[in-house]
Amino acid sequence: MSESGINYFSDGSLVVEVGNVKVYRMNEKLYLEIGPGHTLWALEDELIDYMEQLKDYPKGDCLEIGLGLGVASRYILTFPAVNSLTTVELNKDVIVAHSLLDDKYRHYTMDYNSDCHKILHTGGLEYAYMTKKRYDFIFVDFYDRIDEDTLPMIEDMVRACNRILKPGAKMIGWLDKYTPEEYMIEFTYIFERYGTRND
Ligand SMILES: C[S@@+](CC[C@H](N)C(=O)[O-])C[C@H]1O[C@@H](n2cnc3c(N)ncnc32)[C@H](O)[C@@H]1O
Repeated sequence: MSESGINYFSDGSLVVEVGNVKVYRMNEKLYLEIGPGHTLWALEDELIDYMEQLKDYPKGDCLEIGLGLGVASRYILTFPAVNSLTTVELNKDVIVAHSLLDDKYRHYTMDYNSDCHKILHTGGLEYAYMTKKRYDFIFVDFYDRIDEDTLPMIEDMVRACNRILKPGAKMIGWLDKYTPEEYMIEFTYIFERYGTRND
């Protein structure tokens, strides 16, 4: 992430490191990097996008695929109509890093009920096929970009998660606003097709 030639990894400070997961802080905001290169997976400022995209959908029993910095988790848990949130995360180091992210590091503090939050170390696809639970809302955010490589995985995940939606429930996926139009159209189509369950 570069802001006028400023990089979070060279100009920010490293606040948490677990395995190949690093969390940096720059201008009071958090940045999550996973892997050997400087691949940015989540940033605290995405809260603004989550607020726009999640609208008033979170309610009842919610499922989230991909923990990252836990910004979306905390936001979902602020909704009064939410009874529970289960977050599934594939990378154990992300879960440990998240547990070390004290409120003092976070720019956006939120009033939320952490007692209703369960974080599971598993892949979203495995979870969707194994669980007997059904959900009122599902938020899918397990990818770092939307393109020809990730769209097939996104479709597989959304189809699997369709099975565990309650009747009338809704599923959305985080949409990176910088996604090229051709991929954005395909992404939108996947959620139009499998993002609701009306039976
Ligand atoms: C874009 S980040 C999520 C950002 C998050 N919404 C937040 O508020 O910070 C994607 C996360 O999904 C995780 N992930 C990747 N593949 C996954 C999978 N198949 N199942 C569950 N989690 C996965 C990554 O390790 C990463 O932590």
